[in-house]
Amino acid sequence: MSTKRTLIAGNWKMNLNTAQASLLLHRLQERIKIHKNIEVVLIPSALTLQPLSVQLDRRKFRLGAQNAYYKDDGAFTGEVSFTMLRDLVHYAVIGHSERRLYFNENNDLIRDKVAACVRNEITPILCVGETKHERRAGETKRVLHSQISTALSNLTAHEIGEMVIAYEPVWAISTFGGELAKPAQAQEAMDYIRKQIRDLHGKKAADNVRVLYGGSVDDQTARGYMEILGCDGVLVGGASLNYHKFSEIVRSAYAMRHEVEDE
Ligand code: PGA
Repeated sequence: MSTKRTLIAGNWKMNLNTAQASLLLHRLQERIKIHKNIEVVLIPSALTLQPLSVQLDRRKFRLGAQNAYYKDDGAFTGEVSFTMLRDLVHYAVIGHSERRLYFNENNDLIRDKVAACVRNEITPILCVGETKHERRAGETKRVLHSQISTALSNLTAHEIGEMVIAYEPVWAISTFGGELAKPAQAQEAMDYIRKQIRDLHGKKAADNVRVLYGGSVDDQTARGYMEILGCDGVLVGGASLNYHKFSEIVRSAYAMRHEVEDE
């Protein structure tokens, strides 16, 4: 765990209608306490961002978007832009493997989305990670390198230092009790990500950028990932829909911060 603000993000994906989302927020609000060094980010569907923003206790939570289009406005039926989201969210997930896989998002589109996100003063949470096939073929670093170097190519070193990168090995996402990444595997990839930022954009950007782990994180495994040296938090999918599990994950982060701060 690093000394920067810990980020615990819950990606609700395409789940929960407005009433269900409101109920989940209510339950989380009852359980989660304010902590100055922990940021808890809820990432619901675009439809529920507005009602949740009214209900949300801003001392405890921030909102994030799951996706947006890179143009600011225009004839793009069905899309929502970062410009429309800028007063509503602090964060936006970009390059999630489900968007790469099901919606054919490539590294060039992801680069344009990251730039649009930053232009609209929203902090990107850029997701990167290799598939099982790529890992078996020994291509993990090559894949991370091309995802990161393209996605960040239009940003300044300062902008990179302000953003968040989530290492999410595709083979460990939504496995529901199946294969998990070992913390040592996550550490190796996360170290490589930071090294790459250092090589391409300098030490300051590498020191400041927050790097998260994501992939079937739940209340049982979160601590093991957060203990990784240089890990700044976790991106949680499935377990973030369960208020017991998600508030336990936040509680583990509290406990770890207190252990560090009491030393
Ligand atoms: P998961 O999702 O925790 O359900 O694996 C993580 C993610 O996709 O961000």
